[in-house]
Amino acid sequence: MAQEMYETLDYDVLIIGAGGAGLRAAVEASEGTGLKVGVVTKSLLGKAHTVMAEGGAAASFGNLDAPDGWETHFYDTMRSGHFINNYRTVEIFAKEAPDRVLELESWGAVFDRTPEGRIMQRPFGAHTFRRLCHIGDHTGLELIRTMQYKAIHTNIDVFQEVTMTKMLVQNGRVVGAFGYFRADGRFVLFRARAIVLATGGWGRIYKVTSNSWESTGDGAALAFRAGADLMDMEMVQFHPTGMVWPPGVRGLLVTEGVRGEGGLLRNSEGERFMKTYDPERMELSSRDVVARSIFREVQAGRGTPHGGAWLDISHKGADYVKKKLPGMYEQFLTLADLDITKQPFEVAPTCHYTMGGLRVDAETCATNIAGLFAAGEVACGLHGANRLGGNSLSDLLVFGRRAGMGARDYAKATGQHAAIDESELRQEMDRVLEPFHRQGSVNPYHVHERLQELMTNYAGIMRSGDTLQEGLDKLLELKDEARSMSIGGSRVYNPGWHAVFDVENMLLLSEGIIRSALERKESRGAHWRTDFPDELPEWQTVNFVESFDGQTIRLRREPVNPMPDYLAQLFTYGKAPGLAKSEAGKESQV
Ligand code: FUM
Repeated sequence: MAQEMYETLDYDVLIIGAGGAGLRAAVEASEGTGLKVGVVTKSLLGKAHTVMAEGGAAASFGNLDAPDGWETHFYDTMRSGHFINNYRTVEIFAKEAPDRVLELESWGAVFDRTPEGRIMQRPFGAHTFRRLCHIGDHTGLELIRTMQYKAIHTNIDVFQEVTMTKMLVQNGRVVGAFGYFRADGRFVLFRARAIVLATGGWGRIYKVTSNSWESTGDGAALAFRAGADLMDMEMVQFHPTGMVWPPGVRGLLVTEGVRGEGGLLRNSEGERFMKTYDPERMELSSRDVVARSIFREVQAGRGTPHGGAWLDISHKGADYVKKKLPGMYEQFLTLADLDITKQPFEVAPTCHYTMGGLRVDAETCATNIAGLFAAGEVACGLHGANRLGGNSLSDLLVFGRRAGMGARDYAKATGQHAAIDESELRQEMDRVLEPFHRQGSVNPYHVHERLQELMTNYAGIMRSGDTLQEGLDKLLELKDEARSMSIGGSRVYNPGWHAVFDVENMLLLSEGIIRSALERKESRGAHWRTDFPDELPEWQTVNFVESFDGQTIRLRREPVNPMPDYLAQLFTYGKAPGLAKSEAGKESQV
């Protein structure tokens, strides 16, 4: 056993992850509470994946479309999630999103404005009304800038560039987390009364992805190994429009804001092909539909030279495009040497978001491990089978706050820090150092590449029972090989070492995705099975929940919470509640 040293740091509430949800949780847990709050990130403060969110935060202010309200936002989110969302999570979200956006504004976020001075809202796919509050096309960056400024002025400690390797649980209760500083490999034990996980998703599992390097599912995997349940893991979102060319930037996000601001999709024959797939909503159909449509056009031989569709916003004029989409203009000019105010550009689906994740309580964001909370992309329940664009930024604010409250209350009600089992830590240090001593020569980067290839080919945007089963067989072989991952060098600034743990986490979650996808024998939202092409009513009442005993992933079906009558009746009008109301007399104030 290792004779290694480790540092011990004690916190009332520990937040793992410093994106929008983590920072919002930190503010809630620390401001005016007297609690000691620590924030740990494997990246740098201000650099979380949230900064990549572009188009906006959805909140039903009705600043441009007066009939909007929480009921219509609820309706759109449930419909888009194909009704496997947790209705209560969606209800809380739709009701609280406007307050959270106003709060962000009061903390300094500078939103684009209407001529009357209200927060500007843009249309986005499958939102009935113009609903996305935005700052040009860099809303996530402004959210993080604001939250970071707010958070560091509360009484928190921030630890950057830390890899967490183990969640410590005793008698069903979280007691801390263990890891190491990436800069020099020093071990660190955080003892905590309560922990909030806000570590984001696992989009790096796929080859073409809009996700930054951080999105390797660390928090979900750590919690899963410690006994937390995962839910609806088969639901992975492919955003319709990622960059296609040049190859070095393939997958980089092209905001839905381009279509929201009037961008048109065409195939190689110049047809606006969305008329075949969703003639009513066209380019602003839901993401699952638009992504599949582009995929199908390419398969049918009507793709662009590099395998995508054409997206064109040039008809809106250079001034408009540069004002509304400054980031997109710069992105294409700098990275592709292409002026989007003058010509169309190629786009294709890119892995964007993981709807599945840790199963949490709607009110408090508590997982099934006492004292462990989760918010943002790492958690599951809000988005169901398909996330609406713009719902993730408001998700971070609404449920980051609630997770912070949940952890704060739990920590206050909990006594002393638990004594940590020393032998468990010794074993963990041995495990973490093992890749330096293994005889094998399996390179973690190669395993990651093969995993991305495998998940893209066998469990990607289009799946079937056969591809999934073959994918699972190959994945289990790869997992076996990965046990021999080894690295050279020392513990100082050694990215290969960090990659070992990222890859282990992604392998585990990939297995969760495939096992769940095999069981859902239908197509629903983002989960498209060619052997079961229809959405089937009997699956609308089912969530798949997975647990892990250290060896085997067990999957069980759980009934989707049935909606109470006052919410179910919102679906009886046959159209969105706001539309039904406005047709019954109210006018849209455009
Ligand atoms: O297209 C986008 O700007 C992405 C937004 C989102 O995923 O919420």
